[in-house]
Amino acid sequence: MKFLVTAGPTHEHLDPVRFLANASSGKMGYAIAREARRRGHTVSLISGPTHLRPPRGIRLTKVISAMSMRQAIKKEIRRSHCLVMAAAVADYRPAKSSSAKIRKGKGPRSIALVPNPDILGEIGRSRWPGVLVGFSLETETGEARARDKLRQKRLDFIVQNAPATIGSDSITATILFSDGRREILKQVSKAVAARRIVRLAEDARKERQQTR
Ligand code: CTP
Repeated sequence: MKFLVTAGPTHEHLDPVRFLANASSGKMGYAIAREARRRGHTVSLISGPTHLRPPRGIRLTKVISAMSMRQAIKKEIRRSHCLVMAAAVADYRPAKSSSAKIRKGKGPRSIALVPNPDILGEIGRSRWPGVLVGFSLETETGEARARDKLRQKRLDFIVQNAPATIGSDSITATILFSDGRREILKQVSKAVAARRIVRLAEDARKERQQTR
């Protein structure tokens, strides 16, 4: 199979030296890319800024912002059989980005933000025929919200996890499927979680081919 995997945070720049970001390390997405490669698949990894070593045998595209990640995905999606969207894409970007460093002034200051496109949602709604896998980070009322995302973004399955996962080498997650099934991964390494996620994506593709 041809896997397209995204990983890491996005940086939304205010000026050349300042940006809005989140704490994603990229470890989960890199583990998935590595595992898919190990299973003999062709893998393209689109990564936001991380400190991770690029996995061997994988095509790596480095991006900074949500908009550049979206563009990189669009370029490759048609050639792919599965998209795993493990990146923590910023939902907003500054309305204006200055090419010169913003100087300090007196008194308070606010930043106007505009929404970024929901990349996964766009692909889901476009009825792209591949296997679509999302992640969902929830602090509360997790499962209901994650199920909404699963349905709205038309995913095959979604990996719901909690903030404790960020930056960690292990993960506790609930995988929710479009047919109502659920599966729990309890405090496993990200390598083990990646093994399960890649298998499930392979199964979803097989199932899709059989029902055609
Ligand atoms: N995602 C995306 N584009 C965005 C935001 C999120 O493609 N602009 C993807 C993420 O990569 C993830 C999934 O959508 O696979 C869910 O992301 P999450 O941040 O949990 O949910 P949101 O849809 O952004 O909703 P909210 O932030 O309100 O919980």
